[in-house]
Amino acid sequence: MTRKRSLRDLPPEALDGKRALVRVDFNVPLQDGRVTDDTRIRAAAPTIQYLREKGARVVLLSHLGRPAGGPDPKLSLRQVVRDVERVLATTVEFIPDPVAGVAATKRLPRGGVALLENTRFWPGEEQNDPALAQTFAALGDFYVDDAFGSAHRAHASTEGLAHTLKPAVAGFLMERELRFLGEALERPRRPFVAVLGGAKISGKIDVIEALLPKVDEILVGGAMANTFFLALGFGVGGSLVERDKVDLAKGLLARAGKKLILPRGAVVAPSLERVAERRQVLSDKVPLDCAVFDIDETTRLDYRARLLRAKTVVWNGPMGVFEHPPFDAGTRAVALAMVEATRRGATTVVGGGDSAAAVAGLTSKLTHVSTGGGASLEFLEGKPLPGVAALEDA
Ligand code: 3PG
Repeated sequence: MTRKRSLRDLPPEALDGKRALVRVDFNVPLQDGRVTDDTRIRAAAPTIQYLREKGARVVLLSHLGRPAGGPDPKLSLRQVVRDVERVLATTVEFIPDPVAGVAATKRLPRGGVALLENTRFWPGEEQNDPALAQTFAALGDFYVDDAFGSAHRAHASTEGLAHTLKPAVAGFLMERELRFLGEALERPRRPFVAVLGGAKISGKIDVIEALLPKVDEILVGGAMANTFFLALGFGVGGSLVERDKVDLAKGLLARAGKKLILPRGAVVAPSLERVAERRQVLSDKVPLDCAVFDIDETTRLDYRARLLRAKTVVWNGPMGVFEHPPFDAGTRAVALAMVEATRRGATTVVGGGDSAAAVAGLTSKLTHVSTGGGASLEFLEGKPLPGVAALEDA
């Protein structure tokens, strides 16, 4: 992949007094108007603080949620201001409107920070309307894209702005995401092992297809393993399974040869609530009245051994219903094996979304945990990310 021009490539003295328009991904989880996980805000802080130190006036843009048809107070970025202020240890001016807000950006002191209202409140954001990109562009003197999590969206504040406001460079988070995900795929140290889990095989088909020629092994977990088991003729009881994807699974099994590693056994129970009745069974012995909720102990040990042999690991998707303990044990075991592999010198990269949630608390013990859910998945699928493609080449 071509290296993109980065904030690092702009002479620091050229930033002084300029308005840096920074697209961040502050699409953070909220509960009763409060941010419940500030990872994405903390992840963008190095870029923002660097700009402030160099005397720039920082204007932040982000979307929040998926507002249907215009402004929605429940999705206002006003609710996030307090957390941004806490993380940056400075006051943040809130700009409710991009047109009226131009004057406010010009009044910002050197090192000052402002945050615009949710970009999706304006028609044209998701249609990538060039007129809206022009409106946003008037809020800054140059563009920094640090929103890796939104890089798979060709929207006015991502792809559109990168074409409209120059220079258009990658922020430090964007750079880090592209470096770790890119290196893992393009120059993996071997053995290169991918761990793929999650509920659906359908959302992961393209990833499996794209990774098969590159990796030495793919370790499968989560409900998507059930579809492979059905394809092998095993009964899956009442497990979550995509019956319409069985032929697809058969094709993948035939093509993958020995690269696709399936769980040897499962933790099953009659339902998520009947935890006390859970037991471990071989993968081809799932009882009719039970469903698979996790990988079993034997699989955890097998996967751990394979992960400890690996020099590069990429992980996307949990091994079981990890949000319902004790069915988080398999996911947890893989997370701990990744930590162990990292300690032994392997490069370990975790895709965002559910997998990032599953390694919460272990982030500093892994090489890289992506802030992008959909974006990291599309990256692994080998799809070009429009928000990145539009940035200037180095
Ligand atoms: C994400 O959370 O994956 C990104 O912020 C993108 O959000 P979207 O799927 O609503 O475009």
